[in-house]
Amino acid sequence: MKLHCNKIICSAILAAFVVLSGCAKKNTKSEEKEFKPIIVGFSQIGSESAWRTCNTQSMKEAAAVEDIQLVYANAEQKQENQIKAIRSFIVYQVDVIVFIPIVQDGWDNVLREAKEAGIPVIVIDRSIRTSDESLYAGYLGSDHTEEGRKAARFLQRKFSRVQRPLNILEIRGTDGSSAADGRYEGFREVINKDSRFKIIHSESGDFLRSRGKEIVERILSVNGKLQIDGQPIDIIFSHNDSMTLGFLDVLAEHGIRGGKDVTIVSVDAEQAAINALKEKKINCVVECNPKLGPQTMKLVKTLCNKYEIPHITRVDETVFTEYDNLSEITPRGY
Ligand code: AHR
Repeated sequence: MKLHCNKIICSAILAAFVVLSGCAKKNTKSEEKEFKPIIVGFSQIGSESAWRTCNTQSMKEAAAVEDIQLVYANAEQKQENQIKAIRSFIVYQVDVIVFIPIVQDGWDNVLREAKEAGIPVIVIDRSIRTSDESLYAGYLGSDHTEEGRKAARFLQRKFSRVQRPLNILEIRGTDGSSAADGRYEGFREVINKDSRFKIIHSESGDFLRSRGKEIVERILSVNGKLQIDGQPIDIIFSHNDSMTLGFLDVLAEHGIRGGKDVTIVSVDAEQAAINALKEKKINCVVECNPKLGPQTMKLVKTLCNKYEIPHITRVDETVFTEYDNLSEITPRGY
């Protein structure tokens, strides 16, 4: 079913029945004069992790490959900056707005403004919570709740023969984000059914390497032991690799062997974490795929060609564990 896209850029060229490769395509000499690239306003959260850097790069590269002009705005971890950026894209009359919501709530007003301006919105990576699903055309990204479940299922497998209580420290990502909230919920959904596991402490590290380091440093500063109120920590579930890599060295400095003295489960699967998994310093890494650029640009073109896009598009993801043949993992590129 076709959609209404009120953009002059798109409609003029679509009227010239050019549909296969996007809103605009060079054809004859007279049409060449009319050629204007698709313009996408892209509001990125910031640059808090290697994952995020790769995600930004993937978007920029895919746009270049598809001749799409990307107006990039880095919100530096502030929702208000994202709202401002989206408003400026509306004023600029971009063809499509793509954004990664830092948190799930608080977008309805600005998305309504985009809708009234006739500019379709694609949400990628992190999802939003809204009472009106028609405010955005579609979502592309990971199932963050499933990522949390995968982390918990690994622990069930690893400790299948262990009967003693197992204490967990959870280091969460940015509270209110679908990435952190989904991992939090999915993890509990599985782990809470198994009475051996107990989450003895859960704290947000905001997806930042520095915060992962600080949290573990603070715990160790009490008596040099990985304990909370006298209870030993058997497992650390960290919501991303940046935070994990931040505390791995701290553990080593205190003579605690990550992967042996404490079981570590992380999320993202960036190269440095995969290397640590190979070195047996981490036990499991749940993949979260940052390379969303090519699929996003496809969706952009579909919208500009006035077709609907699926409301939810998931990306393929896997889990890397200490039980796998790790020599077969292709270089991650982030
Ligand atoms: O939204 C995806 C999460 O955000 C990634 O797990 C994390 O590394 C990033 O900063």
